Amino acid sequence: MIVFEDVTLRYRPDAAPALDGVSLSVAPGDIVAIVGANGSGKSTFARLCDGLLTPSSGRVTVDGLDTSDEATIWDVRSAVGMVFQDPDDQIVGTVVEEDCAFGPENLGLPSDRIVERVAEALATAGLTGLERREPHLLSEGQKQRLAIAGALAMRPRYLVFDEPTAMLDPAGRRSVIAAIKRLAREEGHGVLIVSHDVADVAHADRVVALAAGRIAFDGTPSRLFSEPETLHSCGLALGEAGLLAAELRALGFDVPADAVDAESVVEALWR
Ligand SMILES: Nc1ncnc2c1ncn2[C@@H]1O[C@H](COP(=O)(O)OP(=O)(O)OP(=O)(O)O)[C@@H](O)[C@H]1O
Ligand SMILES: [Mg+2]
Repeated sequence: MIVFEDVTLRYRPDAAPALDGVSLSVAPGDIVAIVGANGSGKSTFARLCDGLLTPSSGRVTVDGLDTSDEATIWDVRSAVGMVFQDPDDQIVGTVVEEDCAFGPENLGLPSDRIVERVAEALATAGLTGLERREPHLLSEGQKQRLAIAGALAMRPRYLVFDEPTAMLDPAGRRSVIAAIKRLAREEGHGVLIVSHDVADVAHADRVVALAAGRIAFDGTPSRLFSEPETLHSCGLALGEAGLLAAELRALGFDVPADAVDAESVVEALWR
């Protein structure tokens, strides 16, 4: 588990805390969405998960290892894979397979194991066949999936995504979300996903909303979708289909929380 115990983080001693007394845990297999307005502390939260930042007070542990303990920080880093918003910042190789191999090479694995892991990670991310492609020739969606493959090749138990679909079109977004869901459901990875998009949030088991560094909401997507004010304060907006779905749910219709577009609402009503 990734466990936050009363975590406060100040970037400067005199500044207001970016994260303020947050307690939360994420188990393997969970998909937890982190939402909140700009500046509410989401990226700060993400960076605390693998020790890129360490708490000013309180404690973050990953499977029992304190992220502030330098002796075990590499165990923490190999347990928690991070994928950020801009894939260009994360690409280091001149071709796809080399980029994906960078992490496992740094783990010091033998080369046959590296080859095996890279092939598997690229397959999971839907990039098989593009091994020799130069990363700058990939679409934005493919680049983001390469960043995910790079994280997967490390075989982390947890994956933390900071706005992984922000730069994608709807089709790219759906394929990245499908890949993320598969990781949690089939491979048992614990997934934390920071997002501004209701379509991403809809697929989570649990949503945590931050406001000024504190937890303002912790519950299921369908509960969040039935609280328009909370949604609005997080900078999230349900489209017409999502609003209709929330109203139908309130009337007792069996419309799942991940039905946020017209197609899926219609499908839910037909069943
Ligand atoms: N490196 C930094 N130095 C100083 N202050 C920072 C730093 N990074 C973030 N902050 C401040 O900490 C607060 C939380 O920032 P954070 O980036 O975690 O928010 P966020 O929810 O990810 O925002 P966004 O939606 O814009 O990505 C903000 O007030 C921000 O200005
Ligand atoms: Mg951010």
